[in-house]
Amino acid sequence: MAGIQERTFIAIKPDGVQRGLIGDIIKRFEQKGFRLVAMKFVHASEDLLKQHYYELKDRPFYPDLVKYMNSGPVVAMVWEGLNIVKTGRVMLGETNPADSKPGSIRGDFCIQVGRNIIHGSDSVESANKEINLWFKPEELVTYKSCAHDWLYE
Ligand code: RTP
Ligand code: MG
Repeated sequence: MAGIQERTFIAIKPDGVQRGLIGDIIKRFEQKGFRLVAMKFVHASEDLLKQHYYELKDRPFYPDLVKYMNSGPVVAMVWEGLNIVKTGRVMLGETNPADSKPGSIRGDFCIQVGRNIIHGSDSVESANKEINLWFKPEELVTYKSCAHDWLYE
């Protein structure tokens, strides 16, 4: 999907949940004007997490990454809006919080790469894959945001 219906998969990782940052993180996407399409609070299985990070399977940090993501519940979400994949990544900050600017989520709320509190899809293609992995089609909610006409000209 392109244009204002572009979608991305965002997940608040177990550290973000445990540190009480769910509200702060969701607020960033809400106040930007993006539309929430789907959300679930779930302790993801190791199997799902291995699929989610399949492309990193040969990296040395992969076993620890899967363990970290499986260490508690996550908030899995789909958000929608113009250029949301790219803009979402900018809102997240760099993979390593030490390189993330203040004002970004990782820049403001965390310290180490292995505890970087949030996931965001890195391309439209991986967004579509991740959305299909985490959600059933009927879990994606259709509605028009009342702010729509004030966000887009
Ligand atoms: P994410 O997929 O979680 O949004 O993160 P990302 O695109 O910014 O970074 P990616 O390369 O996809 O890595 C996925 C997650 O693996 C952990 N990581 N640890 N120890 C390390 O050097 C290292 N590198 C990556 C991080 O939790 C990263 O977000
Ligand atoms: Mg990634």
